[in-house]
Amino acid sequence: MTTADFESRAQSLRIVATAPIARDIFRFELARPDGGDLAEFTAGAHVELRAPNGLVKKYSLCNDPAERARYVIAVKREVNGAGGSLSLTTDAKAGDELLVGPPRNDFPLAPNVGNFLFIAGGIGVTPILSMLRHIKSEGSARAKLYYFTRAPEMTAFREELSASEFSGQVVFHHDGGDPDKAFDLWPILEKPQGRHLYCCGPRPLMEAVRDMSGHWSSAAVHFEDFGATKAHKLENKAFNVRLARSGRSFEIPADLSILDALRAGGVHVSSSCERGSCGTCRTRLISGEAEHRDLVLTESEHATNIMICVSRAKAGDLVLDLPEAT
Ligand code: FES
Repeated sequence: MTTADFESRAQSLRIVATAPIARDIFRFELARPDGGDLAEFTAGAHVELRAPNGLVKKYSLCNDPAERARYVIAVKREVNGAGGSLSLTTDAKAGDELLVGPPRNDFPLAPNVGNFLFIAGGIGVTPILSMLRHIKSEGSARAKLYYFTRAPEMTAFREELSASEFSGQVVFHHDGGDPDKAFDLWPILEKPQGRHLYCCGPRPLMEAVRDMSGHWSSAAVHFEDFGATKAHKLENKAFNVRLARSGRSFEIPADLSILDALRAGGVHVSSSCERGSCGTCRTRLISGEAEHRDLVLTESEHATNIMICVSRAKAGDLVLDLPEAT
C-alpha cells in the first residue's frame, strides 16, 4: 500500500490509554475522538498505524471483536527495528491522535471448527488473544494455547491469560533464551485430532511448527508472522522471470517482489498477506532454482511451487506458469 492509499483509507484515532504490560511491551487503547463506533473487525485482524515518526506498521488487534468502541494493540519496543515501534513506545502518549487504517484479516479463524490449537511466541500472542476471547464469548469450540517467552516478566497479557476465564486453556513456557530449554512441540503436534493449528511468533518458532506439522492437512495450519519473514533480512538481487504461457520476460529488481514486478507489468496475480504465510499467491514453478522464503510450502513442494510475494531466485532465472499478461 502506498502512502497515499494508506492516508485515503486511514482515520485519526485517539490514544485513550497506554501502559507497559511486560518488559518493553506496551498496550495502547485507541478510540474515535467523538466516541463513535469503530469499523468492525474479526479475530486475528490487524490495523496499519502510523507512528509519530511517520513509519507505518501493522499491529494485530487483541481485544474482543465484539467491542466496537476501541481497538487494543500491544507494541514491542524494538531498539534495532525500523523505528516505528520505538517511536510509538517513546513518543506517543494518551491524548495523542494517530492515523490508523481499517482492520484487515490475513489470519482469520476457520469457520465450523470445534477444536483449536494455538502456539504463540513473544508478542505473537496478540492476534491469538483476540481469537481466544472470541472463542470464549461464542462458547462453541475448544481451544488451547501454548505461549512461549523467555521469562515471566517478558510475557505480555500474563495476568489476563492466567485468569480464571482461561483456566486450563493456557500453558506458559519460559526458556530463558536457552535453546536447550525450548518446549518440546512434538507431543502436541504429533496427532492432529481434527484441530486447526494457529501459530504466530518469531520465525524460528514458526519454522519448527511448520516442520513438525507437515502431516497435518495444509488447510488446518495457519501462520501469521507480522511481516518478520526472511525476505526482510536477506539481501535481494535482481533476476528475470519468464512466463511460460505468454513467453514474456520481466526483470525483477532487487527492491521489488516477483508479485509487485509482475503487477507493474500488467500481470494480475491474486494475493492476500503478501508475507508468505497465507498461500494465496502460490504459483507453479516450471524451471529455475528458487529461494523459498515462505511459511506455506513443504520441502516436497519446493521444486514445483513458489510463493511469489516473498520468494526469489537463488541463482539464474525462473520460469513460471501464470496466465498470459493482460
Ligand atoms: S500472498 Fe500470502 S503467501 Fe503470498
